[in-house]
Amino acid sequence: MCGIVGYIGDKQAEDLLLTGLKRLEYRGYDSAGLAVVGNGGLRVEKKEGKVDDLRKALSNGSMEGTLGVGHTRWATHGAPNDVNAHPHVSSDGAFAVVHNGIIENHGVIKKKLKEKGYQFDSETDTEVLVHLIEEVKREANLSLPEAVQQALTQVVGAYGIAVVSREDPDLLIAARKGSPLILGVGDGEYFIGSDAAPLVEHTRKVVYLSDGEIVTVRRSGYQVRTIDDEPLDKEVHELEWSLGEIEKGGYDHFMLKEIMEQPDALEDAMRGRVRPAEGEIVLGGLHQVWDQLRDADRIIIAACGTSWHSGLVGEYLIETFSRIPVEVEYASEFRYRDPIIREDDVVLVLSQSGETADTLAAVRQAQSRGALCLGICNVVGSTIARETDAGVYLHAGPEIGVASTKAFTAQVAVLSMIALKLSKGRTLSDAERKEHIQALAEVPDKVRAVLRQSDDALESMAQVYRYASNFLYLGRGYNFPVALEGALKLKEISYIHAEGYPAAEMKHGPIALIDRFMPVVFLAMKDSTYDKVLSNIEEVAARDGSVIAITDEENGELDELCEYVLRIPQTKEFLSPLLTVIPLQLLSYHIAVMRGCHVDQPRNLAKSVTVE
Ligand code: M6R
Repeated sequence: MCGIVGYIGDKQAEDLLLTGLKRLEYRGYDSAGLAVVGNGGLRVEKKEGKVDDLRKALSNGSMEGTLGVGHTRWATHGAPNDVNAHPHVSSDGAFAVVHNGIIENHGVIKKKLKEKGYQFDSETDTEVLVHLIEEVKREANLSLPEAVQQALTQVVGAYGIAVVSREDPDLLIAARKGSPLILGVGDGEYFIGSDAAPLVEHTRKVVYLSDGEIVTVRRSGYQVRTIDDEPLDKEVHELEWSLGEIEKGGYDHFMLKEIMEQPDALEDAMRGRVRPAEGEIVLGGLHQVWDQLRDADRIIIAACGTSWHSGLVGEYLIETFSRIPVEVEYASEFRYRDPIIREDDVVLVLSQSGETADTLAAVRQAQSRGALCLGICNVVGSTIARETDAGVYLHAGPEIGVASTKAFTAQVAVLSMIALKLSKGRTLSDAERKEHIQALAEVPDKVRAVLRQSDDALESMAQVYRYASNFLYLGRGYNFPVALEGALKLKEISYIHAEGYPAAEMKHGPIALIDRFMPVVFLAMKDSTYDKVLSNIEEVAARDGSVIAITDEENGELDELCEYVLRIPQTKEFLSPLLTVIPLQLLSYHIAVMRGCHVDQPRNLAKSVTVE
């Protein structure tokens, strides 16, 4: 979603902000802009399209100045065009604002401002906020920080904003409510970012702003206050990300890099936690709340998108190993449907970014009902990670590609750890649990083998299937969520329509779609569901469907029935999603590349969805 970068210091801001905007590209956007304050006053340049288009527009004359803000916009109010792009500037040209989020009461405020004579050039809610600040400042003769603060008290909705003014070249203001913002603390210079990506190459010291906080930054220092003007003493944290992790490192796309990183990401997620020699799982982040989780009457998992799919795998895992009932909810539905949450329920949310608006709202919903709320997040210091009562970090490293890959496998690995830990004294003997933990520890090497064996084969399959208009993905048991995930991966990056189904559901409707133009991907591992899946494959083959099967390396019996058979190493049934998802990720990736799609930033999509 939209990205913000801000700078105040002694370096020229333009280039630094443009580089910051490039680092934010992965979030998804449709226009970009900059405002720089220097001797020439306040200069603004904004353009529909990519950051490179903005850079070209600037090539006629650079913007001198050591203070500035930049923005990548993902359109919500008004089409993506030059006028609607940020920054937006006050009527007198004195200050400029960039904004992430949605001002919900912009209609009412705009009406009042129009009555007072304000004119609006754009269709955005952000311009409404700019004129509101202007009006509050004018009416009560306030300083800019005072006006920003007071204007924000009149605003309903979500915002992360950054403001600069030609009237004070030593002032950068930023505030947040519902849209993340980080302050980067350098040596005599400061940075603002909607995430850590534009900051990592400059500083590792950061302050995470919380909702309802406003920071005024000068070259001599910064001050954080609540929106109600209470001063705050905020902790400075150390960033975990490194510059190398947010660069492509020789790969053509972040998505491919992140697919290939999965063995290492899994090892990082398991390090110190999965202890095969002792037959133990150690989860420090859940230590304080473990008894409550172990004794829960019910676990409710809430998440969105790919994280929701790993939540479904979590349901199978936790119910199998702990016999605690689990329900999996779309966070977007959970927050609005007055769900039944009892005191002895535990709500577990999954989010790679830790910033997804619907998932965050589910956290607040659960907490307001008195339930313990646990978070499994990748981004350290993210809002969900900070607001949940306890949790487990994935430690998968930054995920930049919009299509989530390594976060899915790391989430499934963490859910497997939780499930195996919950099995103690319940479903597994000590010896069995030790064997299962050993199998989990062996997964990264098996993922390495899948990546080695299958990439070329999948590239040639992609040649054949890249012209398909539809795809079906079918699986049972632990591999049903993988079928959903495979379909999501394909549709989001290649724009081919794809559906995932439990294989048995096919005969209740989707079978009508089968003909020779319908590729059907089957997850056909030799597990407890195999014989049934085999029958489903026969049903598709009998109707001329083009079957691609993912199965175990020893299995030779599918060759006759299937167009392509991809063999992967065997593992225990509960761990198979960690292996079967890999070929599906690669197939989507290669098809998308061959179709000329923008793999890392698919159209209309954002990496972290911070609006409802
Ligand atoms: O950051 P989160 O895990 O909360 O994000 C949830 C979804 O927006 C995300 O998984 C989305 O579906 C991805 N584009 C899937 O690849």
